[in-house]
Amino acid sequence: MTSNDMEYITIALPKGKLFGLSADLLAKVGYTAEDLSEKSRRLVIVNEEKKIKFIISKTADVPTYVEYGAADIGIIGKDVLMESGMDVYELLDLGFGRCHLMMAVNKQHRREKLTDYAHTRVATKFPHIAEKFFNSKGMQMEYIKLNGSIELGPIVGLSESIVDIVETGTTLRENNLEEIAYIMDATARLICNRVSFKLKFDRINQLTEDLKQLLAAAEEEKQ
Ligand code: PRP
Repeated sequence: MTSNDMEYITIALPKGKLFGLSADLLAKVGYTAEDLSEKSRRLVIVNEEKKIKFIISKTADVPTYVEYGAADIGIIGKDVLMESGMDVYELLDLGFGRCHLMMAVNKQHRREKLTDYAHTRVATKFPHIAEKFFNSKGMQMEYIKLNGSIELGPIVGLSESIVDIVETGTTLRENNLEEIAYIMDATARLICNRVSFKLKFDRINQLTEDLKQLLAAAEEEKQ
């Protein structure tokens, strides 16, 4: 880390569903930059006055930037974080982006028990989480890694089932799929590089505390 890097806090933000909510939340505690937008062609956006750099990255890459110290902190879904297996500090559950991971199958081809699906193909963006889940049920499966539109798997006969996230359930319904097993809940997390946490403790700790207060106030307002 150069002395120049030491002056800045670098934050990795994921493109996609979590981007807007993450940027809005950080702005409320003063972490913002002019032209911070996921549409920007510039991939690093700097606030010189406040010494903040934002990296806008593909969702699945956020934990990698943080583990290797290219970013000090990041915001990412617990599902993607777990799947990455990256070794980072998880500082805060930010509460938004709530969804759950599950296994779903084609309604018409439902088998009686979960274990009846042993040795079949499962399409997923989350092969590590899926494997852990099926191992815990004593099931061996064939994993097919897809990068999006997972629901296509059973529809086109690529796989018997899927392991994917569900938010509203609309995608499952519209594709005639049915959830048959719950795996885990997920929300957005604030994550931190282990070395940065020590070297930039004061700033990172202040940011975490400010976010905690903000979330607690929002929670109180709801009640
Ligand atoms: C996710 C997920 C489902 C959908 C679930 O996909 O993979 O397809 O959202 O949301 P719902 O329950 O509200 O319908 P995403 O939009 O991230 O795109 P992807 O399929 O290309 O990964």
